[in-house]
Amino acid sequence: MGLTTGFDNLHTLPRTIAIDGLNVAYREVEALRNVNLTVKAGRMTGIIGPNGAGKSTLIKAMFGLIPTSSGRAQFEGKNLAEQRDRIAYVPQRSAIDWTFPATVRDVVMMGRVRKTGWFHRFSPTSRRAAIAAIERVGMMDFIDRPIGNLSGGQQQRIFLARSLAQEADIFCFDEPFTGVDKKTEAILFQIFHELADAGQVVLVVNHDLGETITQFDDLILLNHEVIASGNRKSVMQTEAIERAYGGHVNFYAA
Ligand SMILES: Nc1ncnc2c1ncn2[C@@H]1O[C@H](COP(=O)(O)OP(=O)(O)OP(=O)(O)O)[C@@H](O)[C@H]1O
Ligand SMILES: [Mg+2]
Repeated sequence: MGLTTGFDNLHTLPRTIAIDGLNVAYREVEALRNVNLTVKAGRMTGIIGPNGAGKSTLIKAMFGLIPTSSGRAQFEGKNLAEQRDRIAYVPQRSAIDWTFPATVRDVVMMGRVRKTGWFHRFSPTSRRAAIAAIERVGMMDFIDRPIGNLSGGQQQRIFLARSLAQEADIFCFDEPFTGVDKKTEAILFQIFHELADAGQVVLVVNHDLGETITQFDDLILLNHEVIASGNRKSVMQTEAIERAYGGHVNFYAA
């Protein structure tokens, strides 16, 4: 029966995102050129590169949120864009409508919509999952506050909680550390590591080439094309960094 074959596939296919020959253009602007990558589960993977390098575009294209010119992105051998319920994605801050009139609880409950279905009441399991996620990011004191009234770092923690409530297999955060303090940054990294250790795919766009780079196991260095990818030490090499950033930049080499 079909079901048996499906389970067999799950066991034999690695929990890996495979991107092949991906090209993306916005009208006349070529944003990504022939991107070939694998992203492994169980690892903290960072995407780095200068402003406008195509980091956000790569994420949106692989999840099927914007059109691609050619290429494909698969997870466990199947089209990634058709597995959206397995993806928890927190866009870059500027892409979020902060005036949205919802409380912390509402926003985190949205993570349960796919499991519940629109127009259905949330189950006790869903309510418990949302509360557990809010607790995990240390935001219970804010549960009935409108999301628009929170600081940038607090908002990031709530969006992380929403992705946790979703119980996804692939977690993706676009520049989650922008404007957050060291304490929140540490909370976010801690949870990202827990997700990776639990065998999930964790993909984080990160601007900082300083010491926080050591938090990542694997890196993707991007500037319209993949300049380097693989384990952190193999990517953080002067030649590749200078090629990506177009000149001398300081970075944490260890
Ligand atoms: N909606 C759009 N329409 C036209 N061009 C776009 C659009 N979005 C992005 N671009 C262009 O595509 C390129 C890649 O943009 P992208 O936002 O993916 O870069 P990024 O690496 O995420 O940059 P940042 O570090 O500033 O977030 C840039 O040249 C950008 O100007
Ligand atoms: Mg971006």
